[in-house]
Amino acid sequence: MNTNVKENNTEKYQTIRFEVEQGIGLLTINRPDKLNALNQQVFLDIVDCLSAIEDNVRGLIITGEGQKAFIAGADIKAMSTMTESEAIAFSALGHKTTMLFADLPIPVIAAVNGFALGGGFEMAMAADFIYASDNAVFGLPETKLGLIPGFGGTQRLARLIGASKAKELVFTGRNINVDEAVNLGIVVQSFSSQEELLNAAKATLLQAMKNGQLAIAASKKVINESSDVNIVEGLSLENKAFSTLFGTKDMREGVNAFLDKRSANFTGK
Ligand code: HXC
Repeated sequence: MNTNVKENNTEKYQTIRFEVEQGIGLLTINRPDKLNALNQQVFLDIVDCLSAIEDNVRGLIITGEGQKAFIAGADIKAMSTMTESEAIAFSALGHKTTMLFADLPIPVIAAVNGFALGGGFEMAMAADFIYASDNAVFGLPETKLGLIPGFGGTQRLARLIGASKAKELVFTGRNINVDEAVNLGIVVQSFSSQEELLNAAKATLLQAMKNGQLAIAASKKVINESSDVNIVEGLSLENKAFSTLFGTKDMREGVNAFLDKRSANFTGK
């Protein structure tokens, strides 16, 4: 498939838009009148979209429609009438969806514009890394609602910034601005406008797309899988993934291109 063709699956979904351009998928949560709050339909649309993602998509950006919010959290109105068993299913649907980002063998960037609160922050943390605009606001305010983060926040934030800092943010439910988020290591880079943010995310993915896609997939998998294991097990995972790449055409192409003083022409094989 021609990766320069812009595909637009917007009409297929109720709550998201999905477009592909230059091999980059742009997934936009599209409920701006509710600050892109996450209800069941948003998750169903994302799961459907990610399950159908085609091989020509080599990088993914997730963002929110409008200037004001990335995602202002799980839909509080929808949660207000949930029973315990419905809450189990809702949280599990969020877990399943966020794990799909981790399982994609391509880089995923959360481009956070405006509010990323509660489930919105949790969704952003499921990406490989976060870029943000200067107006971004992060927080896990669930304890203010008598809740805890339920879309992976207790797990991912503690892994990202350490248990102490994660507890301070969860216990207080306080919001942090982009500078604090950068200092804490939550945000990799900040940008002065939403346009710059999206352009930078695209440029980063295009840069990564020049490299061996099997190597990117393998490095993502090893880093993700070894975040929970001891160093000996982690090194073993690295050793296996590293050596497996020696059986690929791309690895031969990459090292031979260096020796021939030319650009590598990777094929993903
Ligand atoms: C449902 C929401 C919403 C949310 C905003 N809206 N956030 N609806 N769920 N999380 C709706 C408002 O009700 C309103 O709809 C419209 O979006 C605009 O929002 P306003 O509040 O009028 O805007 P503003 O005054 O500018 O305030 C922005 C805000 C505030 C500070 C972001 O909306 C806010 O505090 N939202 C809730 C943030 C939050 O607590 N998130 C965590 C949720 S718990 P109407 O119809 O009135 O115009 C969570 C749990 C995850 O995420 C785990 C679950 C398993």
